[in-house]
Amino acid sequence: MLETTKRRLQPSARSAVPPFMVMDVVAAAGRLEAQGRRIVHMEVGQPATGAPAAAIAAARAALSAGPLGYTETLGIASLRCRIARAYAEWQGVDLDPARIVVTTGSSAAFILAFLAAFEAGDRVAVALPGYPPYRHILVALGCEPVGIETRAQTRWSITGEDLVALHRERPLKGVIVGSPANPTGTMMSAAALAELIRCAEDAGIAVISDEIYHGLDYAFPAESAARISDDVIVINSFSKFFCMTGWRVGWMVVPPSLVRAVERLQQNLAISVPTLSQIAAEAAFDGRAELIKVKQGYEENRRILLEGLPRAGFDSFLPADGAFYLYADVSRFSNDSFEFATRMLEEAGVAATPGVDFDPLHGRNFLRLCYAGSRQDMREAVERIGAWLGQGGGELAR
Ligand SMILES: Cc1ncc(COP(=O)(O)O)c(C=O)c1O
Repeated sequence: MLETTKRRLQPSARSAVPPFMVMDVVAAAGRLEAQGRRIVHMEVGQPATGAPAAAIAAARAALSAGPLGYTETLGIASLRCRIARAYAEWQGVDLDPARIVVTTGSSAAFILAFLAAFEAGDRVAVALPGYPPYRHILVALGCEPVGIETRAQTRWSITGEDLVALHRERPLKGVIVGSPANPTGTMMSAAALAELIRCAEDAGIAVISDEIYHGLDYAFPAESAARISDDVIVINSFSKFFCMTGWRVGWMVVPPSLVRAVERLQQNLAISVPTLSQIAAEAAFDGRAELIKVKQGYEENRRILLEGLPRAGFDSFLPADGAFYLYADVSRFSNDSFEFATRMLEEAGVAATPGVDFDPLHGRNFLRLCYAGSRQDMREAVERIGAWLGQGGGELAR
């Protein structure tokens, strides 16, 4: 018999990615709820609404219709055509459905994109603050994420100039952009995105554009990288605008040169995406009117927060252009946003995500508030935060 220490499997070095601290907030909120406390949830970035009725009806019909086998690896042909048609409708772009790959949420699309476009050791630029899995998936795959600090002057986005400067220091192989962005909710103008893509293409840097929050744009219309170039990877999902997080279905638009590589990878990694989810996703396009109402709810929530939070005491945040996030600067109150979020949860009953998840440099000064909940939740959050800060709650956290 082997000694216990020898028998235990040890985690690989590449699996040592940081945890997502928001999950600690979720767990703490759950403990308080179990004690009977009412908590306003603004920590997790997902719609409070379910999938559109058309999607659910299609899934029900498919369940009774017969066995749900594998589908083609790149996705059900009619879904790929429907996604291509959506680009014509939303962005006026004529896309060949052969370039559309259906994936298990956009999360799986990142793995496919990084494996198809990068070698181990490649350097890939990401924005700070930014969605943590970009960095963590790159690390797990042996690539090197390189953070670019974004600034108010450039609307909190990576610019072509930033990219070229970093590339000159040591060559980059790729850059990931997200607009509307998580956690900031800020967006890139069409001109800024086009300029970034132009600089990247000139320098031979692959662009991956995460467009998961498209459809949730309030300040100005979101531009797809697919309208600007055929030589970029666009990633999107049914999770946010379509309210289908748990169905785990997303898609990519890939350059013709990468389709076969992505297909081979997905054949081996997944075979195909859950069939029921693909069928529901195709039908979700028929639920547009319902989804537009949900979007209008977010717009109303955004208005409540933009008006109410400054009065409550949070008076400094990034432009809330899109998605359903507001990134508030809490440095007036604390330089430890994790501790501040913990106290706000315990004392005010409002759960928010500390910025440290998104930005190792300045995240300790920020909180992300998700406004995908109900109107009532938003009003209550403003009242509770106002009362808490008014009673010195913020001071306690200093
Ligand atoms: C910016 C961004 N990209 C990708 C994802 C992953 O979403 P999914 O895998 O559900 O498509 C999320 C989820 O919150 C996100 O915020």
